[in-house]
Amino acid sequence: MNIEVLTLFPEQFPGPLTAGVTGRGLAAGRVNLRVHNLRDYTHDRHRQVDDVPYGGGAGMVLKPEPIFEAVRARAGKGPVILLTPQGELLNQELVRELAGYDDLYLICGRYEGVDERVATHLVDREVSVGDYVLTGGELPAMVLIDAVCRLVAGVLGSEASPKDESFDQRLLEYPHYTRPALFEGHPVPEVLLSGHHAEIERWRRSQAVERTRRRRPDLLDRQQG
Ligand SMILES: C[S@@+](CC[C@H](N)C(=O)[O-])C[C@H]1O[C@@H](n2cnc3c(N)ncnc32)[C@H](O)[C@@H]1O
Repeated sequence: MNIEVLTLFPEQFPGPLTAGVTGRGLAAGRVNLRVHNLRDYTHDRHRQVDDVPYGGGAGMVLKPEPIFEAVRARAGKGPVILLTPQGELLNQELVRELAGYDDLYLICGRYEGVDERVATHLVDREVSVGDYVLTGGELPAMVLIDAVCRLVAGVLGSEASPKDESFDQRLLEYPHYTRPALFEGHPVPEVLLSGHHAEIERWRRSQAVERTRRRRPDLLDRQQG
């Protein structure tokens, strides 16, 4: 899979993505990350990428021309995604969908955001990583890349690993325990020591449903709806 990123801060990439599973996925070429500096698509002496907002107000807005030029210069055909707190919330369903493309193009905003014509006439999707405002789209892009990367075939050690994880079948995952069986007086649930696979499966399923009901009833509601 090819992922391109357009940013004012290319030096932030690949950053934390070099560690662990994503790092190995990048090194092995399962995911190719190309990072473009937005300033490389300007043509003035000051390489200006932002300007004051029409109508007044605080802050600067990223100009449309360099962003349009950058996206039009791309080779890929997959969706162009603008990271914005106003977009659809990133969830595992969307991650799965995005992981199905051969390539993605991610645009990171800064300052007050980007000229609205980018959203209305250039991008295919607007994606948010949560209901809070960050200073730039770089961390959201890395979150999206990390989540997508681990679903790309061959990136995770075991192909089966993403199955049963939280949000698979709209359930949170069951709890995990490892050795020791008794830690500071807290035992591991008996059933997990039983070696009885069918019972362990049943227990895990009921734990997943129960903790989803307690912590994220909205996931179950959506399942029923
Ligand atoms: C300070 S924010 C702009 C917020 C904008 N003025 C608003 O109120 O919607 C600057 C950039 O950070 C990125 N950003 C901030 N929070 C985000 C979030 N929750 N999800 C995705 N991107 C975000 C976007 O790329 C955005 O253009």
